Amino acid sequence: MLIVTGGGTGIGRAVALAGQAAGKRVLVTGRRSEPLAALSDLSEQTGRSSGRIEHLVCDNADVDDVGRLADRVTEPVHGLVLAAGGNPATGRPDPASLRQVAELYQATLDSNLRSTVLTLAALSGQLADDASVVCFSSIGAEYSSGFYGPAKAAVAAYAAGQAAELGPRGIRVNCIAPGYITDTEFFADQMRSERAEQLRQQTALGRVGHPDDVVALVDFLLSPASRHITGQNLHLNGGAFTTR
Ligand SMILES: NC(=O)c1ccc[n+]([C@@H]2O[C@H](COP(=O)([O-])OP(=O)(O)OC[C@H]3O[C@@H](n4cnc5c(N)ncnc54)[C@H](OP(=O)(O)O)[C@@H]3O)[C@@H](O)[C@H]2O)c1
Repeated sequence: MLIVTGGGTGIGRAVALAGQAAGKRVLVTGRRSEPLAALSDLSEQTGRSSGRIEHLVCDNADVDDVGRLADRVTEPVHGLVLAAGGNPATGRPDPASLRQVAELYQATLDSNLRSTVLTLAALSGQLADDASVVCFSSIGAEYSSGFYGPAKAAVAAYAAGQAAELGPRGIRVNCIAPGYITDTEFFADQMRSERAEQLRQQTALGRVGHPDDVVALVDFLLSPASRHITGQNLHLNGGAFTTR
């Protein structure tokens, strides 16, 4: 079974559809029911393989919701893709008080780090012995201002620690740090065309990323072909940021 958090839209949705096409049973989560139901409907209509996509409305940063997710899982989890996340600061005015600073800080950490931590902790016992876990950091962890970058840096650090914890069971944990990926809800209609062009020009390849670019790396990390790769933070950004 493949579980994809934040699977109703963007990268998670593309991962779920690829899982279905590969014949997997996929369970997607998200806080809004509409995109999840639409994806499940699409999955039934296309019926292009023996795979299927089920959904559960679940705030992955909420202890009770994540507990319900763990109760729903009745078979070994071979793939766990923790795509739930985002930047709550997008489209909002800057915090105008210390209380608002604290609220934005908490919302950003909850959406990205807490959702990852709680979901992995809740499902740890249900992971198969050859399971692969994929977390989501961001190029923003390298230089983003505000709290999104720090939250994503923490996700990458957490993933590395979990790789050490779960490695003795044969379970691998890696992190993907995407650059700008189009066709997602991440920017919530706030991405101006000038800014998108700027980001394209920052890549070495002169192209922006698409969810399918991420799917290719996720599929590799979920497959036995990556059996000796764990504890890594893999950048996927067309060369906009290099590690050397
Ligand atoms: N797009 C980019 O350029 C980019 C770049 C770097 C990193 N990333 C990361 O890639 C991952 C996937 O994002 P995306 O680009 O595909 O954007 P997206 O379309 O906004 O997808 C994020 C999904 O996460 C869900 N989500 C957010 N908080 C959640 C929570 N607490 N519990 C459950 N679901 C939650 C959202 O649905 P609900 O609102 O319905 O819950 C949404 O479906 C994120 O972690 C993001 O930070 C994206």
